[in-house]
Amino acid sequence: MPSHSQSVTIIGTGSYAPTNIVTNDDMAKFVDTSDEWIRSRSGIGARHFAATDETTSDMACIAGRRAIEAAGIDRSEIDLIIVATMTPDMPFPSTACLVQSKLMLPNVTTFDMQAACSGFVYGLSVANSMLLSGNFKNALVIGAEKMSGILDFEDRTTCVLFGDGAGAAVLTATETAEKVGILGALGGADGSAPSLLQQPGGGSAMPATNESIAGRQHFLKMNGKEIFKSAVRVMGQASTDIIEQMGYSPEDLNLVIPHQANMRIIESLAKRLSIPMEKFHNNLDRYGNTSAASVPIALDEAYRAGRIQSGDLVLLVAFGAGLTWASTLIRWQ
Ligand code: ACO
Repeated sequence: MPSHSQSVTIIGTGSYAPTNIVTNDDMAKFVDTSDEWIRSRSGIGARHFAATDETTSDMACIAGRRAIEAAGIDRSEIDLIIVATMTPDMPFPSTACLVQSKLMLPNVTTFDMQAACSGFVYGLSVANSMLLSGNFKNALVIGAEKMSGILDFEDRTTCVLFGDGAGAAVLTATETAEKVGILGALGGADGSAPSLLQQPGGGSAMPATNESIAGRQHFLKMNGKEIFKSAVRVMGQASTDIIEQMGYSPEDLNLVIPHQANMRIIESLAKRLSIPMEKFHNNLDRYGNTSAASVPIALDEAYRAGRIQSGDLVLLVAFGAGLTWASTLIRWQ
C-alpha cells in the first residue's frame, strides 16, 4: 500500500514596500551620519518609509492580496490569518482583524504574532502546526511593519537601520506521496535581557505620560553591539539545529533566506555554515531591516526572480528582540 504524508506547502507569496525611498544620503540630511558609515557597518543603502497615513495593516493587505492572487485560490478559502508585527496599527484590536476586514476575508481564526523580527518565521511554524491538526485548510501568514513610526530620528545609532514594508505567504495543507513543503520548524527565546532591544513606553510597565513622551521612551532603543554578538550565535545555532534535525547538511541547501538586519551578521552566518554567499538571498541594501517583514519580502523577491525552483531545499532563519530566534526548512513545491 502506498504511504501518504500530510504536507504544508507555500502556494503563493506577495510583498509590498512603500513608494517613498529614502537613501543614506537623504538620512544624512537630518541626522549626523554618512552613506559610507551606514554601508560599511550594515550593508544598507536605502529603505522605504510609509506615508504618514499609511498603516501596518494597509501594507499587510497589499502583500496579502498579492500572495492570495499568486496562490490562485479564492479569498473565501482562507481560514486562518496570522499577522506578525511589533508595530501594529494599535495595541488592540489586532492588525490581523483589520486585515481580515479590509481584505473582505471570511470570518475566520485571526491573530497577531509578536516575536519581533522572528515573527514571520514563528508564524509559519504556528500555521504549519494548525494546518497539520486538520482543523484548517489555507493560512495567510503576513509579516508587516511600520518601523518609521517607532524610530527616534534624533538617535543616529538606530534610525538609519530600519525600514517599512510587508511580505506574505499562503500555506495549504495537502496529502502528498512524500513529505514536502515545511519539513520542520524550530523557535527559541531568551527573555533575560529585554533592554538590549525594546520600546520601553506604551505598555503596562510604562503607560504613556507627559514624562515618558518627553523622555523619548516610546521609541525603539537598542544596544547594537550586544545584539550583534547574540544574533551571530543564535542565527548559527537555529540554522544548524534545524538542518541536523531534518537529517541534512548545510551543503544540501539550495537557498538561505536570513533575516535582513546587517550584512556582517549574514556573512558570519555564511562562514559558520560554510555556505557561499551566492546561496543567500539578500536585499538589505534596498530595504534596511524591516523586522518581521524582512524574511517574507526576501522570500517573495527570491521566488519571483526565479531563485527558488520546485524541489529546492530552502532555509529561512531569523532573530529579533526578546531575544527570539526561529528557523524553517522547506522542500519547495
Ligand atoms: N552614523 C555615523 N556614526 C555613527 C552612527 C551613524 N548612524 N551610529 C553610530 N555611530 C558612531 C558611534 O557613535 C560610535 O562612535 P564613537 O566610537 O565615537 O563612540 C561609532 O560610530 C561606532 O559605533 P558602534 O556602535 O561601535 O558601531 P558598530 O560597528 O557596532 O555597528 C551597528 C553598529 C550597525 C548598530 C551594529 O552593532 C549592528 O548591526 N548591531 C545589530 C543590530 C541588529 O541586528 N538589530 C536588529 C535586531 S532585530 C529586531 O528585532 C528589530
